[in-house]
Amino acid sequence: MSSDPQSRPPVKLGVLISGEGSNLQAIIDATEHGELSADIRLVISNKADAHGLERARRAGIAAEFIDHRRFASREEFDRTLVAALNTRQVELVACAGFTRLLSPVMVHAFPNRIMNIHPALCPAFPGVNAQRAACDYGVRFSGCTVFFVADGVDDGPIIVQAVVPVMQNDDERNLTARIRAAEHRIYPYAIRLFQEGRLRVHGRKLLVDGSSPADERLMLINPTLP
Ligand code: GRF
Repeated sequence: MSSDPQSRPPVKLGVLISGEGSNLQAIIDATEHGELSADIRLVISNKADAHGLERARRAGIAAEFIDHRRFASREEFDRTLVAALNTRQVELVACAGFTRLLSPVMVHAFPNRIMNIHPALCPAFPGVNAQRAACDYGVRFSGCTVFFVADGVDDGPIIVQAVVPVMQNDDERNLTARIRAAEHRIYPYAIRLFQEGRLRVHGRKLLVDGSSPADERLMLINPTLP
């Protein structure tokens, strides 16, 4: 571990979105409040009407719409993403509600440098509609996971997870809201651990260097009843 993680330069970040962009907003807010040292170089959306594009522009961040439907293959779209991110010298890519699966073109261009967030406790409920699946299954706890993107779906090395309770009368909508609030806490924190140079991938496991009991508490966010 480097001697003083806090003295490292801001991480040059690219954020991929497709919609609302509330996680993007949490990342912007964390940088503005000094909780995260990040230089958000570029936000890319594959949807023209993504509200996140508006959030980025309002914060003075470069924002581009790249329509995946213009490309003949997933790989061609990803090559355009890689080029746009490289032009801005992006070091870390954060997928925040980005609905396209990434091909090996992206994954290999940024090895262990693409994060994603999933609204469940991985490896439970991968893929779409994770909150509905949790309600239908009757689990007592669900939550969210920030992980490094690898070749499979929602199964890369886990960086941070937060747990939330699932109440008997929950539906998809209120469970989503409860999970979303936890996402907004853990995503900026996971990016901060990267910026501090503290993430080490060992096979499918991720270790955080120099974890103090206070860090461990931040990484183990326990459920409180709503
Ligand atoms: C989040 O629930 C995230 O876990 C999932 O997509 C949603 C994005 O929400 N991958 P937002 O666009 O950040 O508001």
